[in-house]
Amino acid sequence: MNKENQIVLITGGGSGIGLALARKFLSNGDTVIITGRDLSKLEAVKSKLNKLLIFQSDVTDAADVEKLADQTQKKFGGIDVLVNNAGIMNLVDAGDESNDLDKQLNEIEINFNSPVRMLHYFLPQLKQSKNAVLINVSSGLAYVPFAQSPVYSGTKSALHFWTQSIRPQLKPHRIRVVELLPPVVDTKLAHDADLKDDNLTPMPPEKLADIFWTDFLKGKEEITPGLSKQLKLMSRLAPKFIFKQLNKQSIPTFN
Ligand SMILES: NC(=O)c1ccc[n+]([C@@H]2O[C@H](COP(=O)([O-])OP(=O)(O)OC[C@H]3O[C@@H](n4cnc5c(N)ncnc54)[C@H](OP(=O)(O)O)[C@@H]3O)[C@@H](O)[C@H]2O)c1
Repeated sequence: MNKENQIVLITGGGSGIGLALARKFLSNGDTVIITGRDLSKLEAVKSKLNKLLIFQSDVTDAADVEKLADQTQKKFGGIDVLVNNAGIMNLVDAGDESNDLDKQLNEIEINFNSPVRMLHYFLPQLKQSKNAVLINVSSGLAYVPFAQSPVYSGTKSALHFWTQSIRPQLKPHRIRVVELLPPVVDTKLAHDADLKDDNLTPMPPEKLADIFWTDFLKGKEEITPGLSKQLKLMSRLAPKFIFKQLNKQSIPTFN
């Protein structure tokens, strides 16, 4: 798809990977709406990228999502591209009973339940579009779990399997389903998780967006930039070995 003037909705598009993808769609001539919980963050982005449309909306809040769907229907007659990008990553020691359970359940709510919710509310609009695309941003950790973030790893593999399952179901409705599985990318999420100790050089979000765009235009369904490609291969060839390589430290070090 490189047709111009598509209506593109990106959840969590106010920073990191979502913002880098937003710039790509903007430079293709598309209308891009980004969402997030923090309105001041969205406004700061808009002050630099005037063409971006912003909408404060929490992906975990059904009323917010319904309102957003209502607005895009009224304003644009519906969207063509839905990018389920919003996500968080918590470091958790599952062996410590003083863990914050609500925080872990909220991680599932944002990372997995919300893409399901977003598709539910936007399905009628995608069905109406002549160039409908659903893009789910999961992670290379969907192939090999990262023990320091067990809930995150679980949500991303769930998102991966969900994406694979709905692809043939949405095909008769002419909705293309694409999955982007990023490696470690230089964003707030990766900084907060302090992944730099693991000898992984984070990929700049702009480079990730370039790779995404090239593969997206080629019609690829599963986009695996950088290390994610190796994780995919190794998870099939030597799953125990690659799990050990990635998980030399299984308990997170909290600052
Ligand atoms: N960075 C990596 O190494 C990496 C690797 C693999 C996959 N990913 C995935 O890439 C996606 C984007 O992450 P990122 O790395 O770009 O991190 P980021 O810069 O922290 O971006 C995450 C975005 O999600 C938004 N968000 C979080 N919770 C939300 C909610 N409930 N409703 C609406 N928006 C919400 C945040 O905005 P607000 O706080 O304003 O809501 C933020 O703009 C995530 O799904 C992540 O799992 C990242």
